[in-house]
Amino acid sequence: MCSSGSLSSVRLLVLAARVMSLENITDEDAMEMEQKEHLGLFDALGSLLEDPTWPQMHPKPCTDTPWPGIECEIERDPPIFHVTRIHIGPDILTPPCKTSAKLSQSLLKLPYLKTLSLFSCFTSSPVSLSPFLFGSAFSSLEHLSLGSNPSLSGDIPPSIAEIVSLRVLCLSQNSLQGEIPKEINGLFNLEELDLSYNFFSGSIPQEIGGMKSLTILNLSWNSLKGEVPCSLGQLQLLQKIDLSSNKLQGRIPSDLGHLKSLVLLDLSHNTLSGPIPETLSGLEQLQYLMLEDNSINTGIPIFIGALMGLNVLSLSRCGLVGPIPTSFFNLKNLTALSLDNNSLNGTVSPNLGTLPNLDQLNLSHNQFSGELQLPEEFIEKPGKRLDVRGNNGLCKKHQIYSNKKSSFSLPADDSKKMKPVWYEGDMSSSSPKFDQKFVFPCLFFLVLFA
Ligand SMILES: *[C@@H]1O[C@H](CO)[C@@H](O)[C@H](O)[C@H]1NC(C)=O
Ligand SMILES: *[C@@H]1O[C@H](CO)[C@@H](O)[C@H](O)[C@H]1NC(C)=O
Ligand SMILES: *[C@@H]1O[C@H](CO)[C@@H](O)[C@H](O)[C@H]1NC(C)=O
Ligand SMILES: *[C@@H]1O[C@H](CO)[C@@H](O)[C@H](O)[C@H]1NC(C)=O
Ligand SMILES: *[C@@H]1O[C@H](CO)[C@@H](O)[C@H](O)[C@H]1NC(C)=O
Ligand SMILES: *[C@@H]1O[C@H](CO)[C@@H](O)[C@H](O)[C@H]1NC(C)=O
Repeated sequence: MCSSGSLSSVRLLVLAARVMSLENITDEDAMEMEQKEHLGLFDALGSLLEDPTWPQMHPKPCTDTPWPGIECEIERDPPIFHVTRIHIGPDILTPPCKTSAKLSQSLLKLPYLKTLSLFSCFTSSPVSLSPFLFGSAFSSLEHLSLGSNPSLSGDIPPSIAEIVSLRVLCLSQNSLQGEIPKEINGLFNLEELDLSYNFFSGSIPQEIGGMKSLTILNLSWNSLKGEVPCSLGQLQLLQKIDLSSNKLQGRIPSDLGHLKSLVLLDLSHNTLSGPIPETLSGLEQLQYLMLEDNSINTGIPIFIGALMGLNVLSLSRCGLVGPIPTSFFNLKNLTALSLDNNSLNGTVSPNLGTLPNLDQLNLSHNQFSGELQLPEEFIEKPGKRLDVRGNNGLCKKHQIYSNKKSSFSLPADDSKKMKPVWYEGDMSSSSPKFDQKFVFPCLFFLVLFA
């Protein structure tokens, strides 16, 4: 999910308030902003926002009459303001986007714009990413976030790669489609690429390995096919890879083991096949490993027990066979372990219950057998969720078990959620929703420029 980055900006000098009409910008006013930029801003916002009184109410958006979501920076010599950030979204009190909202070419009249962030803005009339807008002309743009815009559709134009200043490209939760352009590797300054929750198809281009600055890659919830490109192994700065909920096939590339900074690897809900490459044991920083719902169809590799930093490990529905490796008892930082819906067998060692941080353990629907001997402290730990249902050979000694009949699933069942993973708060997100309270009467303010 996109965040709307906050760039530091020179905060506003307060000048004496004064009424001014737009078509009458004097020399003194030019101190505020160049006329071309000024008009470009009003025009760009005019094509987005519902409230036509905006320019009258905010003739000096950088100084006397600041506007939430717009930030300016001052250039010293000569002293003049430039718009550096435009943000529209339900999180701040702006007028809503109008139903005919569109992306105006006038944005190119803002040569100092570093951040463009538009959330829940394009909801009814179709809007696309025009190559005339999203190309080299956007010379200062560092942060482009267009998110939760259901009527933003069409392809990503290859020209987007010409915005070489881009550091964040977030196009999450729109209706974009087509293939991810291979030209995207031209964005060598890009640190964050989030194309999640769209309708992208085709394969992930190998060229992605050229984006050397990338730290976050989120392509989840699309219809991407083909293999996970091994070129990802070249992106030494990568911290998070989320390719979940696609149609990816083939093996997990062993090159991923080179990613020394990787904290999160989510390849869940694909059709990847096993085995899990042993090179992954080199991922020393890894905290989240989510592979559930793939066709791994092997035993659980012992080396996973070497990933000492693991917090969350999910191997549900992977067709796994054989026992839980004893190496798992080293995973002292593990808080959630999901092994449900596999064909795992053998006994459930009491050692599993001694992992100090483990509070979610799902072993349901396997072929575990013998007596379940998890320590009493573990069973009774507050907030813990243990699920051992659907293991026919497993017998339960403790009274506490038999009281709960066949199920130890406690207390809430989150299986109805779309993505029942146990991320930390900052990793999950709720999508911004269009808030009805921002709806204003429809008026037209462009006439002011006539
Ligand atoms: C990737 O995007 C999806 C959908 O926008 C979001 O739910 C998920 O948390 C993101 N993944 C990471 C690792 O941030
Ligand atoms: C523009 O400013 C001039 C002098 O300051 C004034 O005479 C004129 O009426 C103004 N025009 C408008 C349209 O406000
Ligand atoms: C386990 O978690 C603790 C506390 O968050 C952290 O200091 C430690 O480095 C982690 N251990 C490993 C092996 O990553
Ligand atoms: C897990 O396996 C059980 C038994 O085979 C099946 O009823 C259930 O639908 C599976 N759950 C999921 C989420 O696949
Ligand atoms: C576990 O299953 C494998 C076959 O997948 C079998 O060879 C092995 O004997 C079983 N072990 C136990 C303890 O049942
Ligand atoms: C364990 O996994 C099963 C099957 O995937 C799921 O239905 C159940 O809700 C999970 N239990 C808990 C406690 O999360």
